[in-house]
Amino acid sequence: MTATGEQPAAAGGAGPSPDWVDFAGADELRGRRTLAVRHGELQLCLLWHAEHDHPVAFDDVCIHKQRSLAKGVVLNGRLVCPGHQWAYDLVTGYCRERDRHQPTYRVRVSDGRVLVDVSGPVPVDTAAEVTIDRS
Ligand code: FES
Repeated sequence: MTATGEQPAAAGGAGPSPDWVDFAGADELRGRRTLAVRHGELQLCLLWHAEHDHPVAFDDVCIHKQRSLAKGVVLNGRLVCPGHQWAYDLVTGYCRERDRHQPTYRVRVSDGRVLVDVSGPVPVDTAAEVTIDRS
C-alpha cells in the first residue's frame, strides 16, 4: 500500500520527468540531524521532519551566502542556516523574514529507502511532494 504524505503534490505540468535517486535508508536518516549528499553538481541536505514523520530534501547551498545547510539546525519546524541564521520552513523552504525560498526537492520513501527527485527543485510556493510507502 502506498500512502501519500500530508503535503499537497508538487505542481505538475511540463516540467522534467522525475529522476529518483536513492540517497539513504529511512532509519539512517531518522537517526541523524542532517545528511549532506551529492549527485553530480547537485548538493543536497536531507533530514527527517520528525513532527510530520517524513524526509525533507533541501538544496544544501544556502541562497544567501552559500553556506552548507547540512551544518545547520532544525528549530521550530525550520532549518536554520549556520551562516546568518536565515530559517527555512521544512515544508516549503520559505524564509519569512527575508521573503525568499531555499530550493526543495520532491522526496519519497520506498522499501525503507529515501529517494529524491533530482530532476529539479519544486516550484516556489509549492510544498515538496512526499510519498511514503508504509507497507
Ligand atoms: S549563508 Fe545562509 S544565512 Fe547567510
